[in-house]
Amino acid sequence: MEDVSKVTSEFSESVTVVTVKQGDKVNAMTAAWAIPVSHRPALVVVHIAPQRYTHDMIMEAKEFGLSVLAEDQMAISQHAGTTSGRKIDKFEKGVMKQKPSKEIASPVLEGCAATMECKLEKAIAMGDHTIFVGRVVAMERDLSKKPLTLHRGTYYALGESVGKYY
Ligand SMILES: Cc1cc2nc3c(=O)[nH]c(=O)nc-3n(C[C@H](O)[C@H](O)[C@H](O)COP(=O)(O)O)c2cc1C
Repeated sequence: MEDVSKVTSEFSESVTVVTVKQGDKVNAMTAAWAIPVSHRPALVVVHIAPQRYTHDMIMEAKEFGLSVLAEDQMAISQHAGTTSGRKIDKFEKGVMKQKPSKEIASPVLEGCAATMECKLEKAIAMGDHTIFVGRVVAMERDLSKKPLTLHRGTYYALGESVGKYY
């Protein structure tokens, strides 16, 4: 069969950054595979490949921050998504700034469309990724910001509305 990414790239995805503090170390990585799964209880999931440094950090810390990037934050996505916290401190260059969380030790990011503080509910190994289910214990959103979107490997700002769902 052909590579399934040929068709899955037709999904339009939000661009999020997963943040985690484990011991003294704080790391951040870009994740486009992050979605809500339940309203009550409030659960979201993020799919992370086992080779990512963030993967092992979340396994240890049992919590993570999830920040939905705004359309002016593409540089953060590229930075956090193309370098590994195993080799560098991603916060050193000042590309992105930590914002202290209210309920967890891991921070979220400044200037985002939305942020969620999550306690790890479950980690499920699935294919070549692990599904991290997070229970949202605190959240914030900034309605003045529009989210950054990814489609066929290209970043977009939201276009014009074509109709309402609710
Ligand atoms: C736009 C974008 C989306 C990404 N989405 C994911 C994802 O959903 N899951 C994942 O495991 N890696 C994803 N990555 C790759 C990781 O962000 C990347 O491997 C990162 O360097 C891992 O950092 P770490 O080793 O510090 O954890 C994405 C990268 C980019 C640029």
